[in-house]
Amino acid sequence: MSEFIPVLTKEAIATKVEEVAQAISTDYRDCDLILVGILKGAFIFLSDLIRHLSIPVKVDFICASSYGDGTSSSGRVKLVKDVDLEIENKDVIIVEDIVDTGTTLSYLVAHLKSSGAASVRICTLIDKKERRQTDVQVDYACHTVDKGFLVGYGLDYAEFYRNLPEVYHLKL
Ligand code: PRP
Repeated sequence: MSEFIPVLTKEAIATKVEEVAQAISTDYRDCDLILVGILKGAFIFLSDLIRHLSIPVKVDFICASSYGDGTSSSGRVKLVKDVDLEIENKDVIIVEDIVDTGTTLSYLVAHLKSSGAASVRICTLIDKKERRQTDVQVDYACHTVDKGFLVGYGLDYAEFYRNLPEVYHLKL
């Protein structure tokens, strides 16, 4: 029988999303900013984040996959969809739902830098350090979580549970 243990409430998520949006609005007030959401998991976080930004911003999406249908990373990254916007000489923030091993983000930071971005930073809803294998610099993190397989607010297990408004530790 699966168990859903509450990790982040709606209120805890909303408070931090607003704080991070304010920090980004300050840090990027004179910049040519593009937010790049990582599909699929980041779509809910990104949609909430941009509604609290007070600066001009463009939005794009990239799709990379490192997990199969299970709960552990395959260790490989596959670029499924690249950005559509011209990012050369633009300031880019990658928006992610969770940084886990760091494999996906290290690949995407290198990819976007090699595509000519002027700068690339990382903004994540959850920074989960337990299984970090690749050293990535997380510039904006709403929450730090020690461990556990998390679902909800965009995070899935076998594509389910992205619609949950709160974040849970799923014990299978
Ligand atoms: C998840 C998550 C991150 C990545 C983090 O994506 O959204 O992109 O794994 O893991 P890592 O730090 O170990 O690389 P996933 O590949 O499950 O796809 P999804 O966003 O469609 O759920």
